[in-house]
Amino acid sequence: MARLPLANWNGEELPLEDVLVPVQDRAFFFGDAVYEAIRVYGGRAWLSQEHFARLSRSLELMRIEVDLAVIEQRTQETLEHSGVENGLIYIQVTRGAAPRTHYFPPEGTVPNVLVSVSELDGDPYAHLRTSGAKVITHEDLRWARRDIKTVNLLGNCMAAQAAREAGCAEAILISADGSLTEGTHTNLFGVSNGQLLTSPTGHHILPGITRSLVLRLAERAQVPVIERPLTIENVYSVDELFLTGTTTEILAVTEVDGRAIGNGPGPITQRLSATYHEAVREWLESAGH
Ligand code: PDD
Repeated sequence: MARLPLANWNGEELPLEDVLVPVQDRAFFFGDAVYEAIRVYGGRAWLSQEHFARLSRSLELMRIEVDLAVIEQRTQETLEHSGVENGLIYIQVTRGAAPRTHYFPPEGTVPNVLVSVSELDGDPYAHLRTSGAKVITHEDLRWARRDIKTVNLLGNCMAAQAAREAGCAEAILISADGSLTEGTHTNLFGVSNGQLLTSPTGHHILPGITRSLVLRLAERAQVPVIERPLTIENVYSVDELFLTGTTTEILAVTEVDGRAIGNGPGPITQRLSATYHEAVREWLESAGH
C-alpha cells in the first residue's frame, strides 16, 4: 500500500511529505502557480475533463507552458498507484524556480508540476448534512481576477479563518457594491420563490465545476435559474441557501451571521443534492462499478 497522500513531483512518484520544493520557486515568493482540486469517487476522477479544461485556461491566462497530456497521464497513474477510492486529487503547476524578480523569469524556466492524491475518510461534511451549515459574511479582500485558479489565496484564507473563529463552516464574501460573490472555497446559490439565484461568471468569481453541474442538474429538474448575485440586502430573506464545491458537493446553509435561513435544509437544495448523488452513481455504473 502506498504511503498517502501519494505525489508525483515532476515525474517522480513519492509520498507527498517527501517532496522538496526549491526555495526559489515562484509559488513560494509570489504565489505564482495555478491549481485544481478534483474529487475521487469509486477510484475515479469525477468531472476530470472539466477540471483539466479549467486548468488549461488558468495556465494560458498566466502564460505558463506545460504539456497537459503529461499531467493528465501522471494524474491517472498516481490515482491508480494510490489505491484511493474516495479522495481528492490536487494538481499544482508553478512557473518554476528562478532568481526573484517581479517580472516573469527568463524563457527556459521550467514549471514545477505537483500531482497528489489523498484519501477522504467518508464525507468531510457529514456532520453538517442534516443540520445545514452556519456561515458568516465577510469583506471580499481578494484580487480582481478570481476566475483564474491561482494559489494566491490569502484573502480566502483570512475570511475562512474568521469563519472558523466564529464557529462557522464558511465565509461568504461581500464585494464593495454589496453583492455576494462566493465562499472562500465554494460557490453560492440562493432559492427565492422557487427560482435558483447565483452570481453569473466573470472575473469576480471562480467558475466552479460543481456550480456548472448544478446549473445542468437544475435544468434537468426544471428548476428555473437566474444568474444574478445575491446581495447583503436580500441574503437573509431567501427561502434556501447552499454552497457548492468539489469537496463540499451541495451543502445547505441554514444560518448567516446568526440569522436563520429557512427551517433546516430546504426542499430544492435537498432535491438537487439527491440528483448530484444520482449523477455520481450513474457515472460510476457506466464505468462498470
Ligand atoms: N476550491 N470558489 C472558490 C474560491 C474555490 O476555491 C472553489 C474550489 C470553488 C468551487 O469550485 P469547484 O466546484 O470547481 O470545486 C469556488 C477548491 C476545492 C479548493 O480550493 O480546495
